Amino acid sequence: MCGIVGYVGSKSALDVVVEGLARLEYRGYDSSGVAILSDGAVVTAKRAGKLGNLRKALEEEPTPEGTVGMGHTRWATHGAPTDHNAHPHLDCTGKVAVIHNGIIENFAALRAELTERGHTLASDTDTEVVAHLLEEELRVTPALAEAMRRVCRRLEGAFTLVAVNADDPDVVVGARRNSPLVVGVGEGENFLASDVAAFIAHTRDAIELGQDQVVELRREGVTVTDFDGKPAEVREYHVDWDVTAAEKGGYEYFMLKEIAEQPRAVANTLLGRIGTDGRLTLDEMRISDEQLREIDKIIIVACGTAYHAGLIAKYAIEHWAGLPCEVELASEFRYRDPILTRTTLVIAISQSGETMDTLMAVRHAREQHARVLSICNVNGSTIPRECDGVLYTHAGPEVGVAATKTFLTQLVAVYLIALYLAQVRGTKWGDEVFAMVQLLATMPEKVERVLETMEPVRELARSLANERCVLFLGRHVGYPVALEGALKLKELAYMHAEGFAAGELKHGPIALIEEGLPVVVVVPPRARAVLHDKIVSNIQEIRARGARTIVIAEEGDESVVPYSDTVIRVPAVPTLLQPLVATVPLQVFSCELASAKGHDVDQPRNLAKSVTVE
Ligand code: F6R
Repeated sequence: MCGIVGYVGSKSALDVVVEGLARLEYRGYDSSGVAILSDGAVVTAKRAGKLGNLRKALEEEPTPEGTVGMGHTRWATHGAPTDHNAHPHLDCTGKVAVIHNGIIENFAALRAELTERGHTLASDTDTEVVAHLLEEELRVTPALAEAMRRVCRRLEGAFTLVAVNADDPDVVVGARRNSPLVVGVGEGENFLASDVAAFIAHTRDAIELGQDQVVELRREGVTVTDFDGKPAEVREYHVDWDVTAAEKGGYEYFMLKEIAEQPRAVANTLLGRIGTDGRLTLDEMRISDEQLREIDKIIIVACGTAYHAGLIAKYAIEHWAGLPCEVELASEFRYRDPILTRTTLVIAISQSGETMDTLMAVRHAREQHARVLSICNVNGSTIPRECDGVLYTHAGPEVGVAATKTFLTQLVAVYLIALYLAQVRGTKWGDEVFAMVQLLATMPEKVERVLETMEPVRELARSLANERCVLFLGRHVGYPVALEGALKLKELAYMHAEGFAAGELKHGPIALIEEGLPVVVVVPPRARAVLHDKIVSNIQEIRARGARTIVIAEEGDESVVPYSDTVIRVPAVPTLLQPLVATVPLQVFSCELASAKGHDVDQPRNLAKSVTVE
């Protein structure tokens, strides 16, 4: 939520910052703004709406020349998404500018104090108090980094802050608590950003900042301390993807590109994890086999699409690993009294590794002494850093706000964990586990096959662009797939879409069925006859009441044909693995439908890619 870029070097700061913001716009697009140090002054420009509005404004104004600057793209929390609330915010002197991601929880009290001391605050944001607090601290110390440390000690909440000061024209200062901030290390130039994507075109050498740290960025180097000024230990790393991975590569939308990348992404999640003997190795999980054998309960915490991956994990873990598994929305977890012990394994699923609800659930679990493992896509992000172990999904950067390839790779990661637990614990399913591992290795090719047959799905989506509502039904792991299909349609097409467990239909939702209502049904493989036959009956029930049935069924399943208005075919795979192929048509469907309605597929309204507020 909110994207931040800072730059000190010899290039045009405005160009570097705006280019960085373009790569971070997925983090929020309510407004954007820049501050450039130019001729001893801070020059700012900001506009409500997408980055395009700011670019246009910058074309109309004289370009601020300067090689030090920062920029922000906002997802509004405090204050409406207006020009006036857009970042950067200035102090009373107009010399100090601040941008911010997160929420300063004690801002009301700080604002009241500042007003009493004679400051005039121009916006409705919590951010602006920081500019004024810095102004006061800069009367005590001329060093911006020290002033920032002093201010941070007074702030409560989650924040990433970046500031510049016209009186200190060669430095950009950043601070981080709970919200992401990484440093890009270049030759005679250095960068700060919420995500490496912002500077990947310039350098792939990065430094991960820890909790409660302040960084001072100069051309010649970077200094990191804690909030008390003590030198801090940092982790340097090399980013293993390049700039093309974060570009559209000829696709109309990032989402389309990311859907198309799924076979490779799934292969990358499997890479190096299946041995030549067919056994799994998940060493980087950092939880020993001994510890895994002690586990007697698993709780999965996650939000949104990642939560749907968690629901599917429950079926896989309980079946293969024989362990009880609960799945909980991360935002609910710490507000009840979950029973956790040292032998509980909590698995936090988060593609960004920054989702505040999930992070808070992780902290709560750790306070109760549970072991915590994360499944994450972003190397070095906060959640994996705070967990005992992590399984990275290696899907590459996902820019489209709707999760696609990260969902499929989360599924692969949960299958790997479930199968690994079965392997380590020696459960009764030894042969099945071995066979599943072999089958997992074939999934990239199966996902590819689904992608090759998506034209009719696109056509179908376009034909439904004027519908008001679509329902999704599934059983077993098809139920979370139905939930995911509905979520994608809501967030992209802004349509009423609901996912139901097919068996629940008769307990109420069947009343929604009316003539012509499109209902998408995920049909389990015929091999699970009990499940399969029940859902075929459900299809008949809704069709009898007038529903337009859109059925996702495996190749060769002719039993559904008489009751289907449209059949979408997916390769035949075992039930537990079916979400990997059955989700793909639903992604394509919602993307195409949203596009047909003229919506911005990559940046749906009101959303942001990384939700760093609770
Ligand atoms: C939906 C979507 C969201 C995220 C959710 C969790 O397409 O992307 O529902 O899945 O906000 O995000 P992460 O996985 O980053 O914790």
